[in-house]
Amino acid sequence: MTGPLSKKRIVLGVTGSIACYKSIDLASKFTQAGAEVDVILTDSATKFVTPLSFKSITHRQVVTNIFDINSELAVNHVALAEQADIFVIAPASANTIAKLANGLSDNALLTSVLATKSPIVIAPAMDANMFENAATQRNVATLMSDGMFIAGPAKGRLASGLTGLGRMVEPRDLVGVTEMVLGKNGDFSGKRIVVSAGGTQEAIDPVRTISNRSSGKMGYAIAEAARNRGATVTLVSAPTALPDLVGVRTIKIESALEMKEVLGEECNDAHSIIMAAAVADWRPVRTLKSKAKKSNKETWKINLTKNPDIIANIDSISSKESGNIVKVGFAAESENIIENSSAKISKKGLDFIVANDITAADSGFSVDTNKVTIIHADGTIEKLPLMSKYEVGNAILDRVKTGLDFK
Ligand SMILES: Cc1cc2nc3c(=O)[nH]c(=O)nc-3n(C[C@H](O)[C@H](O)[C@H](O)COP(=O)(O)O)c2cc1C
Repeated sequence: MTGPLSKKRIVLGVTGSIACYKSIDLASKFTQAGAEVDVILTDSATKFVTPLSFKSITHRQVVTNIFDINSELAVNHVALAEQADIFVIAPASANTIAKLANGLSDNALLTSVLATKSPIVIAPAMDANMFENAATQRNVATLMSDGMFIAGPAKGRLASGLTGLGRMVEPRDLVGVTEMVLGKNGDFSGKRIVVSAGGTQEAIDPVRTISNRSSGKMGYAIAEAARNRGATVTLVSAPTALPDLVGVRTIKIESALEMKEVLGEECNDAHSIIMAAAVADWRPVRTLKSKAKKSNKETWKINLTKNPDIIANIDSISSKESGNIVKVGFAAESENIIENSSAKISKKGLDFIVANDITAADSGFSVDTNKVTIIHADGTIEKLPLMSKYEVGNAILDRVKTGLDFK
């Protein structure tokens, strides 16, 4: 199974910050994602972490000295710059940022950055006062206007023990930033995609809800895939245990009614709505204001009322004419998958529906894979093989793209 970083050549620049230890994790995450990672350490970085740590993880060259006769750079000092798909400098010290802003090239990392045509991601990490210093702010602004992507820094506890703006963005999020920057001119660039995810929670009282087993993984994977193809993505998410996706505007809701309201607004100028959320069909007629006490009664009847069909009403709830929106529904079925899904297409005015058999072992809720059948409005049926949810996301987007071209 391939992901967005598979076979990508990433040059990871590491500079002299206490946050260097995190870049070992970052190198590991890039490598696990299938990227070929070449690491360049500044002299100062080698005081914090060793080249051996990186080499053991990446199994590739680690450069510390541009004049090292054993390094590829001694033969061609801009070799890494030419081969890179992307440069990621994490952590980026105030010193390196200042040198980059002024075009200096007095070490292997700076020389390579100056010589590359690839996109460059900078993840500053430093003491808050260093970051807020007028010179650093000026330098960061220069790098941004030079077209570099600045990731962070984040706010939090700093090595000094103080709390402030200066922490390096976490490796997991830097992986997301790297994927996003690599795909920013992708085939969905300029397109606005709205994705819903997770299982809605319908409140019985302040502590109890009626919900379902949706993990949100499918919706999050679609949002991630759309982001990585250059789309502007809004994710409307019911409660999930999943971490936020960097670069994806996420609006958190709980109930079906909240989801309906938010989607109505968000779909106004969207090119596509992909409804991966498992929206409860029913909600309690009445939500109790305080927690229902455990009583001696053996049974408890809760009256339910039907929730509105959100995607069927997208056109009518959006304030402007949205006839060109590509509408994608999901059907989690355990029997008569094709028949039940086909019926939903016309009822909900969908372009196509993604049906998954929730009874299959590697499909449906919670797992990272899915085996889906796509049923189009014209009756065409496509049975896709078992894929990662990310790959399913891309397969759905391929068909959304065809729909957009067609409309
Ligand atoms: C213990 C220690 C921690 C440091 N942490 C940082 C830091 O987080 N960010 C930073 O910009 N500089 C930090 N510095 C200062 C840099 O290491 C120093 O400016 C160095 O010249 C950076 O060189 P480089 O940019 O070539 O890696 C630290 C220095 C020490 C001794």
